[in-house]
Amino acid sequence: MPFIGLSGRVAVVTGAGSGIGAATARRLTAEGCRVALVDRDGSAARAVAKECDGETLVVCADVSDEADTSAYVAAAVARFGPVDLIHLNAGISGSFGSFAATDVTDYDRVIAVNQRGVFLGLREALRYFRHEDRPGAVVVTSSLAGLRASAAIVPYTASKHAVIGLARSAAIEGAPHGIRVNVVAPGRIETPLQSHALKALDDPDAERALRTHSPLGRMGTAGEVAALVAFLLSGEAPFITGGVHVIDGGVDVSDPMRIQE
Ligand SMILES: NC(=O)c1ccc[n+]([C@@H]2O[C@H](COP(=O)([O-])OP(=O)(O)OC[C@H]3O[C@@H](n4cnc5c(N)ncnc54)[C@H](O)[C@@H]3O)[C@@H](O)[C@H]2O)c1
Repeated sequence: MPFIGLSGRVAVVTGAGSGIGAATARRLTAEGCRVALVDRDGSAARAVAKECDGETLVVCADVSDEADTSAYVAAAVARFGPVDLIHLNAGISGSFGSFAATDVTDYDRVIAVNQRGVFLGLREALRYFRHEDRPGAVVVTSSLAGLRASAAIVPYTASKHAVIGLARSAAIEGAPHGIRVNVVAPGRIETPLQSHALKALDDPDAERALRTHSPLGRMGTAGEVAALVAFLLSGEAPFITGGVHVIDGGVDVSDPMRIQE
């Protein structure tokens, strides 16, 4: 059954050329939305747009760039009319390693895409929805790494904590105007970003263990995250704002002391 309140809406999805963003674009078009697929990799986004079952627009943009951020919203408006829904999802993992091994250039790059990109997207969304007097909805993709510390991927962990603060602050500012802002915090999801992270371990046994370590015994799919995003953007969630919605197969509640029966 389709979610209520999505059909006919105009949506913008960043990082739509791959993984979770691609799955959200597919899901929202299947729900009857017209979708602007934003990605710095235009050819990847065009390939995803071809698979979408509905009206799409591809916008080649870098989410860490201020002018590009205004331009991707303006492009969606120019093609489809007023925007209703935004999924701020583009992100990169950066490199892995301890504090001592973390290069400041890599730190700045991850913060620019994952944190500054979400700040710019939220600021644009709040300005746009307020100016147009529209009760828009926004979902930001954080991560379980936004809730848990990690000494193995420091810039990414910092950026994913930060976007929770940004999104929850935007939720306070948006609420009096009917603008809802939520966060999804996925655990390990089968996407190119995750494959890159697992391959970086260079240890097939550790990779196998991480692939199956959630209490549900597997990694998630991008489609499962897209379903949560679509729900939060839809008219099924009118009273949900400022929430951090974990989707991780139970990793966050797992207990290493659990006694096996
Ligand atoms: N896959 C996971 O296990 C997982 C878990 C938790 C959170 N996340 C988050 O989900 C989001 C999507 O990740 P994914 O796994 O689908 O990754 P992915 O690498 O499959 O897709 C990310 C997309 O974002 C685009 N992108 C990267 N930098 C960009 C920029 N500066 N401007 C515009 N587009 C840009 C890439 O070109 C790519 O198409 C990210 O924010 C990631 O941190 C992923």
